[in-house]
Amino acid sequence: MNKTICFFLNQEKIEIDLNEGSGLRPDTTLLNWLRERRKLTGTKEGCAEGDCGACSVVIGRLTSDNTPSWQAVNACILFLPMLHGSVVTTVEGVANADGELHPVQQAMIAHHGAQCGFCTPGFIMSLYAGWCAAIDFSNTAEIETLLSGNLCRCTGYGPIVKAGEALARWARPQWATDRLLGDISALAQMAGDTRKGLELEYKGQRYSAPATLDKLQTLYAENPSAQILSGATDIGLWVTKQHRQLPHLIHIGNIAELEAIKKTDGHITIGAGVTHQQAMDALAQDYPALQEIWSRFGSAQVRASARVCGNIANASPIGDLSPCFLALDSQIVLNKAGRRRQIKLDSFFIDYGKQNREAGEFVEAIILPRLQAGQQLLAYKLSKRFDQDISAVLMAGYLDIQADKITDIKIGFGGMAAIPKRALRLEAYLKGQNVPVIGEDEGAREAKFATDIAACLAEEFDPIDDMRASRSYRLLAAAQLVQKMFIEYRAGYTRLSTPQHFRSPEDFTPTIQA
Ligand SMILES: Cc1cc2nc3c(=O)[nH]c(=O)nc-3n(C[C@H](O)[C@H](O)[C@H](O)COP(=O)(O)OP(=O)(O)OC[C@H]3O[C@@H](n4cnc5c(N)ncnc54)[C@H](O)[C@@H]3O)c2cc1C
Ligand code: FES
Ligand code: FES
Repeated sequence: MNKTICFFLNQEKIEIDLNEGSGLRPDTTLLNWLRERRKLTGTKEGCAEGDCGACSVVIGRLTSDNTPSWQAVNACILFLPMLHGSVVTTVEGVANADGELHPVQQAMIAHHGAQCGFCTPGFIMSLYAGWCAAIDFSNTAEIETLLSGNLCRCTGYGPIVKAGEALARWARPQWATDRLLGDISALAQMAGDTRKGLELEYKGQRYSAPATLDKLQTLYAENPSAQILSGATDIGLWVTKQHRQLPHLIHIGNIAELEAIKKTDGHITIGAGVTHQQAMDALAQDYPALQEIWSRFGSAQVRASARVCGNIANASPIGDLSPCFLALDSQIVLNKAGRRRQIKLDSFFIDYGKQNREAGEFVEAIILPRLQAGQQLLAYKLSKRFDQDISAVLMAGYLDIQADKITDIKIGFGGMAAIPKRALRLEAYLKGQNVPVIGEDEGAREAKFATDIAACLAEEFDPIDDMRASRSYRLLAAAQLVQKMFIEYRAGYTRLSTPQHFRSPEDFTPTIQA
C-alpha cells in the first residue's frame, strides 16, 4: 500500500504525504488545495457543489484497458487523494510555456467569449477537455454537451459556442500535441503505483483506496462503518456544504475489475466503477431512451466523475437511473467479504434512507436485461432546466407488445415517493389491454383510459410538495407521461441516440415497430 499520493499537475510531478505534517486531511478538495496551497487561483469557486463549472480542471486517466481519457471535472467536489495516478491540467497550464495561447484560448478571445471573466477559466477547461479528446467541434450539439456544466451570467452562451465551433477549423499546434503525449507517458509511469492502492491517515481521518476487488471485500467487511466513496458527486457536498466528518472513506475508483461493462445476449452488467459517461457511450444502441436521460444527467463534469452504481446505492428518490432500471426489472449484485447476493432492484429500496444492504456489503454491479423484439424502454425526465437539474418527476416504461396487446409492462417512477418505485397497480391495470389510442379522439375509451391511469396513480402514490414541484403537479404530470409513452409508441417514434438539447419534432425519427 502507498502512503503517499502521486499525480502530475501541469506537467510537474507532485508527491504528497497526506499522513504526516502535510496539514491536509484526505477530504481536502482539489480546489482548495490548488487555490490555497499552490496559489493557482485561476480555478474559481462559484458554488462549491458541482453546479457552476467555475472550478473545472481537466483530468487525464488510463482506463482499465489502458486507454487515456481526458475529461473536465469539478475540482470543488473532488478529494485530493482521488487524483492518485492521474494528470491534472488547470487553466494556468493550458498555454504553451513560451506564452503562446492554446487554440481554445485564442478562439475564446476571437469570438468575444468573456465579459467579467469569472466563468471563463471553467469554459476554457471544458473546451480543452474536448480538444484533448478530439471531439467533433463542427457538431454544435457536441459543444453544447461539453459546456452543459458551465454557467455564465454575463456573456451569454452564443459567443462561447461560436468559439467552440471555430476549433473545428483551428490547426492543432505541435507543442500542444507533444504535451498530451508527455501526459500519456506520465500516466504510464504512474500506472504501477496506482495498482498498489492507498492507505492514508491524518488527524483521525482514514482514507483507503484498495486496488483490487479482493482487498475491497476484506477491507469493507472489516470496517463496515466506513463510507464507500465512488465519484464523490454526493459525498463531496456532504463535506463542502454540510461540513460532515467522515472518519473512514474507502475509495473504489481505482479497481480495474469494477470498471467493466459486460454484454451477453441476455444481459448487460455494469460494474461499480463505471461512470455515467462510460455507460452512456457503451449503451447508446441498447437503450436509446436512456441516452436522453444520461445527456441530461448533471453535466459533462458530473457524468465524468459520478458512477452509475453510486446513483443506485444512494437510493435517492429523485435519482434518474433507478426508475429506468426498475422498469427494466434489473438485478443488483451485492458483495460482502466475497459472498454475493443477486437481488431484484425493487427489493433493494425499502424505505427512505433504508436499503436491503447489510453492514459491510457493497454494490458490486447492476445487471440490466437486454431488450428483445417487441420490447421497448421509454423514459422521460421533467425538471425546471434542461441540463444540470434534478428531476421533479421521472418516468420510465418498459413495454412488451405482441400483436398490439400489452403482454408485459413495467413502470418506474422517481420523484413520486420516498423511494424510486414501480407503479404496480397501474401495471396490473394495463397488462393484457390493447395498446391504447390516445390523442386521436377514440372517444369514451380514451377518456376512461386517461381517468383510470390517473386514478391508479393517485391510489398508489402520495408525492410530496417541495420546491421542485407540488403534489398535484407530480400526480398530473405522471399520468400524462404514461399517456405520452403510448402516444410515442403508437406513432412508432424512437429517440435519436445522439442527445439533442432542444427538442423539436425533428428530434424523433419514425421507425417500424419490431
Ligand atoms: C451538480 C450535480 C448534478 C447532479 N445531477 C444529477 C442528475 O441529474 N440526476 C441524478 O440522478 N443525480 C444527479 N446528481 C447526484 C449524483 O451525481 C449521482 O447520484 C451520482 O450517480 C452519485 O454517484 P457517485 O459515484 O458520485 O457517488 P458518491 O458521492 O461517491 O456516493 C454516493 C453514495 O452512494 C454510496 N455508494 C457509492 N457507490 C457505492 C457502492 N458501489 N456500494 C455501496 N455504496 C456505494 C456512498 O457511500 C454514498 O452514500 C448530481 C450531483 C451533482 C453534484
Ligand atoms: S465551484 Fe461551482 S462547480 Fe465547483
Ligand atoms: S463572463 Fe461573467 S460570468 Fe461568464
